Amino acid sequence: MSKQILCLPGDGIGPEIMAEALKVLDAAKQRFGLDIDVSHGLVGGAAIDHDGVPLSDETLELARHSDAILFGAVGGPKWDDQPMANRPEKGLLKLRSELDLFANLRPAMLFPQLAGASSLKPKLVAGLDILIVRELTGGIYFGEPRGVRTLGNGEREGYNTYVYRESEIRRIAKVAFEAARKRGGRLCSVDKSNVLEVTGLWREVVVEESAGYNDVELSHMYVDNAAMQLVRAPKQFDVMVTGNMFGDILSDCAAMLTGSIGMLPSASLNERHQGMYEPVHGSAPDIAGKNKANPLAQILSLAMLLRFSLAEGSSLAEGSSLAEGSSLANSSSTGASKAADAIEKAVSDVLDKGYRTADIASEGCQLMGTAEMGDAVVNSLLSV
Ligand code: IPM
Ligand code: MG
Repeated sequence: MSKQILCLPGDGIGPEIMAEALKVLDAAKQRFGLDIDVSHGLVGGAAIDHDGVPLSDETLELARHSDAILFGAVGGPKWDDQPMANRPEKGLLKLRSELDLFANLRPAMLFPQLAGASSLKPKLVAGLDILIVRELTGGIYFGEPRGVRTLGNGEREGYNTYVYRESEIRRIAKVAFEAARKRGGRLCSVDKSNVLEVTGLWREVVVEESAGYNDVELSHMYVDNAAMQLVRAPKQFDVMVTGNMFGDILSDCAAMLTGSIGMLPSASLNERHQGMYEPVHGSAPDIAGKNKANPLAQILSLAMLLRFSLAEGSSLAEGSSLAEGSSLANSSSTGASKAADAIEKAVSDVLDKGYRTADIASEGCQLMGTAEMGDAVVNSLLSV
């Protein structure tokens, strides 16, 4: 039976980079004989313009019935005056929470060809390969009560609730331990347990879970120190696990170490190994429509999709290929996982050839636009 992918390009550079990922998917289908159907939907500002809401019920239903979702990016100045409950970002947050996509894998891996593009010295980032496991459906992003109220004296007060249930911590900890077990065997749990009770519980539960993983070396770090260590000596980390908001912040920081946030894919998975795949970067409205955006993170997100949601036998419960989220190698032999390997290799090949979009440009490179970069990946994928 054919697999179903729902494609949600969103706003800003989303549609442009998605077009390149879809070219690459067509090429992969051709080369590996994959049976995949693609449907399309609107999300974010594009959905607000068309349906009045950032994610319609119809699109949500399509998402529920897809094997995987390929997501672009949402948001832009056009929708800045939308009320909080109807902002473009709410479309993304609703998909995450309605599909229970609690495990967000954000690999920060340096392509050796881009060592010079990092904001850190090449020797600090050479060989960098970190996997950030971010809890994605809980914490302060979703906690209730939330809002802005007016106090008796007329002053306004904004409030959010930082809350985690034990079961939510336990399931993300398991994913992180499984990932660490399959990678370098080290897990750093990031919290702020010196100040916040909720993350005190986080630490306790992570320690309890560690009993089942004697082969994984567990450490803990406060989030402020973790931010500092990421820019001081990032190679000390293997897998990091943290809550929703800290993970949001630390993953941007880790992304920049790799040269460009335009290179990084991510996967958000639920327990049924259904997943949503998106670049870590946002909608970059300043360069939208100019054929300037780097499509490689979107293309690498497609590779993750093929590996984690479409390859037979990949499942979150088994910990399978999930753990290899930041590794280019994968031993599984299904067509979809072979296609994933081949796409990642094609990306590496175009970098070897010196092809660069503006965000990763360096002296002597061949500067390209979004579409040309997509074509280069397709050519490389088909030239075997
Ligand atoms: C991310 C983004 C989102 C988040 C926004 C767009 C809601 O920053 O995926 O990191 O905060 O989770
Ligand atoms: Mg973010």
